[in-house]
Amino acid sequence: MSGAGGFPGSNVGSSASEMPPMVRRPQPHPPAQPSPRDEHTVTMPIPFERPAPESVSEPDAAAEVAATAPLGPTGRPMPVFPEPAPLTQHGGARVISMCNQKGGVGKTTTTINLGASLAEFGRKVLLVDFDPQGSLSVGLGLNPHEMDLTIYNLLMQRDVTLDEVVVPSGIEGMDLLPSNIDLSAAEVQLVHEVAREQTLQRILAPALEQYDIILIDCQPSLGLLTVNALTASDGVIVPLECEYFALRGVALLKTTIDKVRERLNPKLEIDGVLGTMFDGRTLHSREVMERLVSAWGDTVFHTVIRRTVKFSDATVAGEPITSYASTSTGADAYRSLAREVLTRWPAE
Ligand SMILES: Nc1ncnc2c1ncn2[C@@H]1O[C@H](COP(=O)(O)OP(=O)(O)OP(=O)(O)O)[C@@H](O)[C@H]1O
Ligand SMILES: [Mg+2]
Repeated sequence: MSGAGGFPGSNVGSSASEMPPMVRRPQPHPPAQPSPRDEHTVTMPIPFERPAPESVSEPDAAAEVAATAPLGPTGRPMPVFPEPAPLTQHGGARVISMCNQKGGVGKTTTTINLGASLAEFGRKVLLVDFDPQGSLSVGLGLNPHEMDLTIYNLLMQRDVTLDEVVVPSGIEGMDLLPSNIDLSAAEVQLVHEVAREQTLQRILAPALEQYDIILIDCQPSLGLLTVNALTASDGVIVPLECEYFALRGVALLKTTIDKVRERLNPKLEIDGVLGTMFDGRTLHSREVMERLVSAWGDTVFHTVIRRTVKFSDATVAGEPITSYASTSTGADAYRSLAREVLTRWPAE
């Protein structure tokens, strides 16, 4: 879906030159005297060595914790994220866009399951399906052909109110603004509107006082709908499949986020980059993760989402993995992500 009205150049495909190619060095055969680097690159797991402490005389508390914490899947010491404190009152929502113009990287899966995990921690959550594919709505068990009102009506009809369109998600504490293919027409129609980039922000305004967190599931494009989502948001989470091609295009996404921040929404932050579909058994996944951390540093979440077929099963069942397979590693990973994002966000 190439967005009408996005930033100039935002529809252009990403170029391979954004990231240097991830070429593995060929191993000398027979390996006369392989350097430690060659050994590691070709046959051994990527070493995630802790730097030796420079001085042991007066280590500060944080350094001590880091030195004793086991290494996580991103190769950094894995912190322990505290259990979120219960809230005594709701409102003042933080709005987060789940954004990556590459398709199939886990945006919708992360929206559903991070939302459900935050709801488990007592947060009032609104999920916004902002993709004409309607996967978020279908993934929560809705039939796209049986929706009376969708976010399209809210965007285009002034007499439709938020409360008329919001539906319960089936998970306590979590609601949904549904969408279907009608939304694709909005992208074209919005081009002619005044303040076209602020339309979603305007319609979400009444929800800010009702919810603690609003998660917007973006479509795989950097067009006008995505620019609307970024304009309405405080933060962006970038799900990124742990696979080489997924690294391409991230620079273009960052440029789009920077432009929205400069021109439309100065408060916009990148809350984190989330590695999804990670398979720690493969050198490839670990190499991609290593490159992600070297490019994005601490923006990369310590929590990663491993590849498991349980996510597809949960989608078919029309519910989050946290209820479909509550004790699975996938459910635990999203609970961990919920704890981690709550430590990153300003105090509620
Ligand atoms: N960690 C995972 N392990 C295995 N499969 C996954 C995982 N996360 C998501 N999937 C599956 O991958 C597919 C794509 O995921 P999802 O729909 O969340 O991506 P998306 O970024 O929202 O895609 P689109 O860009 O088309 O909206 C789905 O079938 C989903 O069930
Ligand atoms: Mg999606």
